[in-house]
Amino acid sequence: MLVTAGPTREPIDAVRFIGNRSSGRQGYAIAEEAARRGADVTLVSGPTALADPFGVRTVRVETAAEMLAAVDAAFDEADLVIAAAAVADLRPAAPVEGKIRKADAPESIPLEGTFDILASLGARKGPRVLVGFAAEAGDPVESARAKLASKNLDLIVANDITAPGAGFDVPTNRVILIDEAAALELPLMDKRAVARAVLDRVEALRKESR
Ligand code: CTP
Repeated sequence: MLVTAGPTREPIDAVRFIGNRSSGRQGYAIAEEAARRGADVTLVSGPTALADPFGVRTVRVETAAEMLAAVDAAFDEADLVIAAAAVADLRPAAPVEGKIRKADAPESIPLEGTFDILASLGARKGPRVLVGFAAEAGDPVESARAKLASKNLDLIVANDITAPGAGFDVPTNRVILIDEAAALELPLMDKRAVARAVLDRVEALRKESR
């Protein structure tokens, strides 16, 4: 099993970066719970303040490009992928090697798109089960369903990051588990309880597909 977690950092120069508020908690909870259930887990993690989960092979990366390389290295051996990482969609187009001095600071920083890791896995999915996350501001169901289809996923864990207690950098989450057939709305729960619910749903999907 392969799990991605945490944010990525996209360098502006040697000291500054574009990042996001992801703590990594949800992906780490999934990796830890899966290992407890007996899975052989590789966790590819962006920078977080969390300790490596017990019983999990943890690979630390910084940028979206490094995450892609680490995911690619583990993908062939995986039969289940859960992509919980908040991968940057954009990065500075020309990061500066040294430090940009205040006097030389540009008024704007040109950005370019990053590679969509999960969509690339969806395109060469084979018999694997693929699970994505969708962080939406407002009702997440419609746009999460569109991502389920466009990234060729079996399940998407959607949340409204504007709802109280949900989303980034909090210990709880309120998610909807969406597959082709159904949308299961869960109450506000601890992220470890969300991890158990996601893995229960995945186990059911894997049984159905056998
Ligand atoms: N993801 C990824 N690689 C990227 C961007 C996202 O693997 N470069 C994965 C995330 O780990 C997550 C899902 O795709 O599982 C989230 O997709 P999201 O970033 O919400 O999709 P976008 O198409 O960027 O949606 P939006 O237009 O809402 O930003």
